[in-house]
Amino acid sequence: MCGIIAYIGNREAYPILITGLQRMEYRGYDSAGVAIINKKGDMNVYKRKGKVSELVSFAKGQDLTGSVGIGHTRWATHGEPNDVNAHPQYSESKNLVMIHNGIIENYASIKEGLIKRGHTFQSQTDTEVLIHLIEDIKEHENMKLGHAVQAALKQVIGAYALVVLDKNDPDTIVAAKKGSPMVIGIGGDEFFIASDASPFVEYTKNVVYMEDEQVAILRKGQELKIRNLKDKEITPYVQQLTMELESIEKGGYEHFMLKEIYEQPRSVLDSMRGRLHAETGEVKMGGIENHAKKFEKAKRIIFVACGTSWHAALVAEYLFEELARIPVEVEYASEFRYRNPIIYNDDIVIAISQSGETADTLAAIELAKSKGATVLGVCNVVGSSIARASHGGCYTHAGPEIGVASTKAFTAQVTVLTLMALQVAKLRGEITESRFRQLCYELETVPAKIDEVLKLNDTLREISFKYKDSNNALYLGRGVSFPVALEGALKLKEISYIHAEGYPAAEMKHGPIALIDEEMPVFVIATKGANYEKVVSNIQEVKARKGKIIAVVTSGDKEVKAMADYTIEIPETDDLLVPLIAVIPLQLLSYHIAVMRGCNVDQPRNLAKSVTVE
Ligand code: G6P
Repeated sequence: MCGIIAYIGNREAYPILITGLQRMEYRGYDSAGVAIINKKGDMNVYKRKGKVSELVSFAKGQDLTGSVGIGHTRWATHGEPNDVNAHPQYSESKNLVMIHNGIIENYASIKEGLIKRGHTFQSQTDTEVLIHLIEDIKEHENMKLGHAVQAALKQVIGAYALVVLDKNDPDTIVAAKKGSPMVIGIGGDEFFIASDASPFVEYTKNVVYMEDEQVAILRKGQELKIRNLKDKEITPYVQQLTMELESIEKGGYEHFMLKEIYEQPRSVLDSMRGRLHAETGEVKMGGIENHAKKFEKAKRIIFVACGTSWHAALVAEYLFEELARIPVEVEYASEFRYRNPIIYNDDIVIAISQSGETADTLAAIELAKSKGATVLGVCNVVGSSIARASHGGCYTHAGPEIGVASTKAFTAQVTVLTLMALQVAKLRGEITESRFRQLCYELETVPAKIDEVLKLNDTLREISFKYKDSNNALYLGRGVSFPVALEGALKLKEISYIHAEGYPAAEMKHGPIALIDEEMPVFVIATKGANYEKVVSNIQEVKARKGKIIAVVTSGDKEVKAMADYTIEIPETDDLLVPLIAVIPLQLLSYHIAVMRGCNVDQPRNLAKSVTVE
């Protein structure tokens, strides 16, 4: 959460900062701000509550010149979103400014000490406390900025990615990181720093991912210097970025979310490419092969994740238990990390995360590692903190996901988890060759089937129009479609603000059935398969209470069609692969409903894409 960007070089900084902030707005959009030092040495700070566009209107006509600057887009933690709490934050003398992503947990006690020494504070932020501390140390200990940052961070408990700018030293930027992501882009005679590489992808492909407790000193015209908090010099490890500019642009779609929904045939295919060989009946995932012995012996797999990734984990529970016959537990990372869980050293913990930066998931990994478990990551962002903190893993290849509501990352996760389950099933000798091959062939047809479902967009828009004014919605599914119901409900509530709940279809009669009346849309996944007849009975229970049924059914279905208000026909597939296809119409329904209600689908209120605070 929070996006940070900095530039130092020979170009005008402001356009780079603003474009960068707009690309990182998915990380938070409560307020935005920039600080730029002009040629005369004045430091101009502009900050505004609201989106980056508000900042741009506010700054119009002001002095925006200068080739060194920092920028921030905020997701509020300490202090309400307003102009004063927006970053950059000033030091006591106003000579230093800082942008920060993370939480300084012991800020209150540091603040108390600083107040006793005469400091006064304008904002309610923990960030302002830290920049005051840095200046206090710099002046009293007569230190250079880099060393003062190191010394201050030794006193800090919490997480941070921060950048400091000194009005009196405009050729230097100091950055530091712990817990929150930070990547440095190295150009010919310029540096970029940002929370992810999207702000500078068109300028350089040479990047350094900073590690925790490192401080970087970026001086115009000099080499990048990195030290740790103990003042040991670190040789920067320069990597090549593979991201392309097109992948982070809307490409003609009205919203990123719609673009990403439409990208799913490709992102699912990309996630299988080189791993699934249906012809030869092989699945090859390096992440599994490297830990084959562990998987053969493991008595249990524990999935940890948050949000949509947690729903993918629930799908994985069915896949691994059904195919590999291995007991699975699925945990919210935030609960797991704080409840002293029982973990054995032959457990395999699989962390699922699109961003690879979710603070709770990262902490769950550290806990599992400390108890001796083998930890694998299923991440979308290459080089992300979770990918690096894990012993191994398998990347999803969904490409950058910008819309805050996750869509293509979910189907990519489920694809990769299906492949993992298949390979582990084979390793453990739990699957017959014919069943293995049958699933491989079926999986190969999924991208084309998703394409078929996307063609239903006009029908889905019409259905959306019918239910756009609902106050509540219920989503039902059984078996492997139950997590799909949860995901459908999450998509609707997060982008349209309609209260929605996902339930196992049979569990409805233990509570939610009381909510059903003629106003209530009930979305049901009722595809042909093992649970079909049971779900048909649940649909009848809803109809008997005059609820409205919108059912996702298998192509050609007649029975549910006769009962439902609307049916959405999806191509037939194996029971276990239904989530990959059935989730698509639910994503589109949520999208259209949110657009019709005038909601900002790419940046829903109060949410952020990358949750780097607990
Ligand atoms: C946030 C996002 C969700 C995402 C969740 C977990 O809440 O808005 O879309 O599912 O974080 O994120 P991760 O990056 O770990 O998958």
